[in-house]
Amino acid sequence: MPIPSIIAIDGPAASGKSTLGRRLADSLSYLFFDTGVMYRAVTWGSLQHGLEISDEAAVTSLAETAQIDVRPPSKEDGRACDVLLDGVDITWETRRADVEANVSPVSAYRDVRKALASQQRRIGLRGRVVMVGRDIGTVVLPEADLKIYLDASAPERASRRYKEILQRGGQADYDQVLAGVRSRDEIDSNRAFSPLRAAEDAVIIDSDKLSAEEVFAKVEALCR
Ligand code: DC
Repeated sequence: MPIPSIIAIDGPAASGKSTLGRRLADSLSYLFFDTGVMYRAVTWGSLQHGLEISDEAAVTSLAETAQIDVRPPSKEDGRACDVLLDGVDITWETRRADVEANVSPVSAYRDVRKALASQQRRIGLRGRVVMVGRDIGTVVLPEADLKIYLDASAPERASRRYKEILQRGGQADYDQVLAGVRSRDEIDSNRAFSPLRAAEDAVIIDSDKLSAEEVFAKVEALCR
């Protein structure tokens, strides 16, 4: 069997999708594309322009007109890719707490999704890609050759995210991180348009009791 060319990895916030996707893409020499950064870029841009996040028309208009570029990393500072909004490098800005708190409502807007998903699909169809998100296997690239749905319990995901923030030198409160993870789960899973769910033909991996290494080994075996 040939190695799958289009690989979709979906799952809830902080389930380890990016770590897995990045590693898999490296090992296959494929493009790694984390689609969450596009929703984060629109959220950051909206906050930056002083838009009300509840103003769907204004946020949508920004999503439809802003130039979002996701490129291979230009710096070795832990980034998986460069994220540019209208030519400005906003890679680390997209990780800010205010972006994190507002990105789920932004990604629930139908026409924001439409604008971003069509760009994602165009890139994905070129093949040799590992694309990570919430709706890649169900909506963006239903024809993907391999679909993984990576899951983990909310406390486990919050604990990973909490450690990640501390490792980057930031400050965090575990209970707040857990509340944030739960709130994003709630919005991402219950929104009307392309909610988070596993595709029928996805391989579901529960990573609660697995290390990143073990998850990678499982998925690599599925590829090869
Ligand atoms: O994976 P992440 O935490 O960077 O995603 C940020 C937000 O974007 C998340 O709340 C859900 C949304 N998202 C989405 O709706 N569809 C995608 N394909 C990727 C992310």
